[in-house]
Amino acid sequence: MSPGPDATTAGAGAALAERAQRVVPGGVNSGQRSIPGLPGLVVAGTGGARFRTADGAEFTDYHAAFGPPLLGHNDPDVARAAAEAGAALGHMGVGVTEGEIELAEELCALVPSLEKVLLTSTGSEATFHALRVARAATGRRLVVKFQGCYHGWHDSVSLNVISAPDRVGGHDPISAGILPEVLEATLVLPFNDSAAVRRCFAEHGADIAAVIVEPVPHNVGALLPHQEFLTTLREETARAGSVLVFDEVITGVRHGLGGWQQISGVTPDLTTLGKAIANGAPAGAIGGRADLMELFSTRPGAPAFFAGTYNGHPSVVAAALATLRKLREEPVHDHVFRLGERVRTGLRTVYERLGVPVAVTGYGSVFVTYFMPGYEGRTPRTYTDLLANDAGLFVGYRRRLLEHGIFELPLNLKRSHISYAHTDADVDRLLEATEAAVAAALADGGARDLEHASTMGGAAQATAEADGAAR
Ligand SMILES: Cc1ncc(COP(=O)(O)O)c(C=O)c1O
Repeated sequence: MSPGPDATTAGAGAALAERAQRVVPGGVNSGQRSIPGLPGLVVAGTGGARFRTADGAEFTDYHAAFGPPLLGHNDPDVARAAAEAGAALGHMGVGVTEGEIELAEELCALVPSLEKVLLTSTGSEATFHALRVARAATGRRLVVKFQGCYHGWHDSVSLNVISAPDRVGGHDPISAGILPEVLEATLVLPFNDSAAVRRCFAEHGADIAAVIVEPVPHNVGALLPHQEFLTTLREETARAGSVLVFDEVITGVRHGLGGWQQISGVTPDLTTLGKAIANGAPAGAIGGRADLMELFSTRPGAPAFFAGTYNGHPSVVAAALATLRKLREEPVHDHVFRLGERVRTGLRTVYERLGVPVAVTGYGSVFVTYFMPGYEGRTPRTYTDLLANDAGLFVGYRRRLLEHGIFELPLNLKRSHISYAHTDADVDRLLEATEAAVAAALADGGARDLEHASTMGGAAQATAEADGAAR
């Protein structure tokens, strides 16, 4: 599928980017879209596995908007369903539609923990409401999260994602402006460390409202969980009466229709979903145990306020239903898992040939290469392991991949995605281009790319420095 019919002109991108800079802070609409070393990227068309810039350059896309288009961009069945719904049904913001009922029934049938479900527009809203209802249900204050996990932009979870080495082990907010009391109410533990979880519950168990976790922390690439770690989370939260939240915004749907909870057999109390459930339309969901979900104020008199003007928007719901239907009826997971495995195996061979020590990992359609020695045949399991990754080379080869028409996000630790629209020929090209890009990055030294190896943290430090400057 070609990325859109529009004509484009060389140089048009720079003019548009300049216009954007005048009226949009930084020229982009999300803090993770302004890529150092890649200024003025203006996207003009998408289709299947490709996108086109306003300058007319075409790329095969492995960034995939951080994960939603599992079927590929502008999937025709999803686009048709959304357009038809849009033509037939406006958004009323009162009552419910048949589509919302159907989608809730479908999600409850697919995801093991879901007895009841509510729709949101984003993953951040879903995780926000999960923690709010956990506090409402338990009357407790504390939330536990894990280093390297991202759960959205709200205060309780806006810390300790991609932390600089000297920020690991303490609170590392990703934003200024968060009340210290809110940060203090979030405890941060190392992922895959069952002993740390047990110690934390021994000390604070009676005050812990919720544990929230990406069952596979994909916001730092892919840290595969020890089964025993997930089981420990289940046991400790159950014993303490805390709410276990699986944030399956990435893993849900993409790794299987029942999410990681189905793969692992560990059932959380609450689950948050987003991204791939509507193939790119703005959909999120929170679901889980009926007794917890019944605490939301969608039931008159219930204590946990829940609202959202666009929740259950008909076009978005139609997109989600069409996405889930296609995932059930066509061999989407077979296809993306097979290509994902081809990529991971092929990359290992490439790096062996180049003599570069790496850990190539991922799951299903997700892949990532960390540049670090000592992991042959093993996978890194903790954020601390990832501190050994050569960030300059990680970012450097991705910047050189652009010259081959391939887009893997040139930011440290970011994962890449395969969609139903990618082909075996795309994988062949990816492997060939990666070999050339890594060789080129090594030849002129990855070091000059270190400036692009940004972290996602240090906000407290930055604020302190700004305070210092103001004084
Ligand atoms: C695991 C996880 N949870 C929550 C979110 C937040 O979702 P959204 O960006 O839709 O608010 C993200 C976004 O990247 C995510 O990766």
